[in-house]
Amino acid sequence: MNKILVTGASGHLGEAVANFLLKKTSVNNIAVLVRDSESDKAKTFKAKGIEVRKGDYNDYNSLVNAFKGIDKLYFVSGNDIVNRNKQQENVVKASKEAGVKHVLYTSIPRKKDSNLSPIALVAESHIKTENWLKESGLTYTLLKHNIYMDMLPIFLGEKLLETGVAYFPAGDGKVGFALRNDMAEAAAAILTSEGHENKSYDITNNRAVSFLEIAAAISKASGKTINYVSPAQEEFIKTLSSAGVPMEYVGMFAGFGEVFKQGELDQTNNLLETLIDRKPTSVTEFLTQVYSNKN
Ligand SMILES: NC(=O)c1ccc[n+]([C@@H]2O[C@H](COP(=O)([O-])OP(=O)(O)OC[C@H]3O[C@@H](n4cnc5c(N)ncnc54)[C@H](OP(=O)(O)O)[C@@H]3O)[C@@H](O)[C@H]2O)c1
Repeated sequence: MNKILVTGASGHLGEAVANFLLKKTSVNNIAVLVRDSESDKAKTFKAKGIEVRKGDYNDYNSLVNAFKGIDKLYFVSGNDIVNRNKQQENVVKASKEAGVKHVLYTSIPRKKDSNLSPIALVAESHIKTENWLKESGLTYTLLKHNIYMDMLPIFLGEKLLETGVAYFPAGDGKVGFALRNDMAEAAAAILTSEGHENKSYDITNNRAVSFLEIAAAISKASGKTINYVSPAQEEFIKTLSSAGVPMEYVGMFAGFGEVFKQGELDQTNNLLETLIDRKPTSVTEFLTQVYSNKN
């Protein structure tokens, strides 16, 4: 038996990974880590026969307890950017102490490891965690997830169809956006097969798209003309802050816009297709689903 523990299981990615695992292995091989074991999500897992373990990235001892007897840990990066360094160091150390055999960590792809990256704050803890894993002596796999295409409606805002403007500072940069659910399906394939020890994978789509193409796809899906406007960074920041968007989001969105513009995430390969054994969902398919009949 190969016991797999999926962290972040109350979140989108972890929940999807656990559900895809159900199709690939016995339920007895699957456990999930949650912070609240009485939540509806936790109850749903239990109802499916999945073992629910309680743990918090902030609480080292809870992690050591939760990781006991685990062969493979699917470690979903935390979403608390400010406290993530310490949290993720806890996860790596607790994995080592508990005797986890293999840790698979969801990181980010990049062309350069630079402190000058416009998303340095987001990238820092991923790079540190990769290094902690490598230095720990644990067997690891790095799953470098490109940007979820699920983020596009968030990047473009709720007023997109109303204004007819896709406003984002990405210039003509292209990104290999992939569907989060496709990445989860790929993770289940990796977790239930061998040969991934100490490997690093760029999990990305097989085609990268620009925001001009994204605006065209939304126009087609919604039947409304959407023009792409790529403002200068300062203008973007000013516009979003005066619209009341919280500053931490403004900074993060501006950073991602710049990273996209620089082509840092213009990465493609066929690995996702190989892992899920079908073409990954394209941005056009996704946007058609989201924006059709919304006009
Ligand atoms: N590639 C991309 O485009 C992209 C976009 C957004 C995020 N991400 C990264 O990918 C991760 C997974 O994405 P997602 O969409 O599934 O995010 P999500 O829905 O926000 O899920 C995050 C999960 O992490 C758990 N978590 C947060 N803090 C924790 C802690 N202190 N201890 C234990 N668990 C904790 C959350 O548990 P609770 O339910 O208890 O809060 C939740 O289950 C994110 O956390 C983020 O690092 C990537």
